Amino acid sequence: MAAIVRYGMVGGDSGAFIGTVHRRAIRFDERAHLVAGSFSASSQQKNKDTGALLGLDPKRVYSSYEEMAREEARREDGIDFVSIVTPNVTHFDIAKAFLSEGIHVMCEKPLSFTVEQAEELKALSEQKGLLFGVNYSYTGYVLAKVMREMVRDGKIGKVINVNAEYPQEWLLDDLHPVPGQELKLSVWRKDPEVAGISNCVGDIGTHIENFVHYVTGLNIKRLLAVTNHFGQPLDLNANILVEYDNGANGAYWCSQVAAGTLNGLAVRIYGDQGSLEWQQENPDFVRYTPRGEAPRLLTRGNGYLKEKAAAYSQLPTGHPEGLHVAFANLYKNFITAVLMNKRGEDTTSIDFPRVEDGINGVKFVHAVVKSAANDACWVEL
Ligand SMILES: NC(=O)c1ccc[n+]([C@@H]2O[C@H](COP(=O)([O-])OP(=O)(O)OC[C@H]3O[C@@H](n4cnc5c(N)ncnc54)[C@H](O)[C@@H]3O)[C@@H](O)[C@H]2O)c1
Repeated sequence: MAAIVRYGMVGGDSGAFIGTVHRRAIRFDERAHLVAGSFSASSQQKNKDTGALLGLDPKRVYSSYEEMAREEARREDGIDFVSIVTPNVTHFDIAKAFLSEGIHVMCEKPLSFTVEQAEELKALSEQKGLLFGVNYSYTGYVLAKVMREMVRDGKIGKVINVNAEYPQEWLLDDLHPVPGQELKLSVWRKDPEVAGISNCVGDIGTHIENFVHYVTGLNIKRLLAVTNHFGQPLDLNANILVEYDNGANGAYWCSQVAAGTLNGLAVRIYGDQGSLEWQQENPDFVRYTPRGEAPRLLTRGNGYLKEKAAAYSQLPTGHPEGLHVAFANLYKNFITAVLMNKRGEDTTSIDFPRVEDGINGVKFVHAVVKSAANDACWVEL
């Protein structure tokens, strides 16, 4: 059997943000080929133009995702998986349509509007024996995997506190609009009809929740939160206190109105035997401090990193890799799982964010919104 995977994409026309990043990242893996798409619902011209730009057979550029799921499922050479890179409101219906036709799914986060929808997607994927990935992209960084192994190997002992943040500044324009100036990113994020019950927490706070869980293995038991809307329908800033299942606490801050910050995801994990600190904007390095010793700056792919995780490096050390490679590492494992699934092999040990992570993300968003609406009371997850 050829070790080739065919995939299709929903969303990601040539003017979109994240779809292009997905396609580039998948190209890092020569086993996967794009063969079908429905890239835009609002403009069939953009849909066709994107398909043409990508060299697709025009018959496989579909005017709707429903038609794409149906037609691709009928073809002998139909797609093995679909990558869903549309705004939040559409994720549930699109994922359900492809699962129903027997097609594996990789979906953007946040997975759905409601926890019930996310759980329905899990049930359907299990019933159909299909893989379901959720694109918590930052867990694809080599150093995320190195930190995870270090925590598992007890290098920092028991985790006793976490401090993590994800500040951006791009919605400052909302607080002080500049007449005539266009916003830089898709403004649908501010619209409850399209984004759901949260803007900032759903968009970037969920990355903190998933990243900390990935690295530490800890689950949030309960949380309390204060959010700031600054006159907008949805949150632009949130301070969140969490309690994990091991009794430790964590403090998370996410913001889209923090002047001078860009994509400042930063995570500090403190154990009783040491600590780890990592920043997304300098992702090839992690600061490791064993208790009572001098801090060490570890980088990927170096001899002193014996961890298996270091093998995810796609370039020799010293050549910065960046976000495309983080996405690529995530897809590399997902594509491996798709091929294994075709051969009837067990894929449970393959490392990629799954539908359960998506469910946790939706639960996290709902708990934050509920707490913030109730004077920052504790909310169980
Ligand atoms: N994991 C990450 O790091 C990350 C980063 C950015 C965005 N995202 C997520 O990706 C998703 C998309 O965000 P974006 O910034 O790329 O949005 P965007 O507005 O730039 O792009 C959305 C695309 O979806 C298309 N689309 C909308 N509805 C469609 C439908 N029914 N059928 C086909 N195409 C349709 C639009 O035409 C557009 O091409 C969001 O859920 C967002 O939260 C994740």
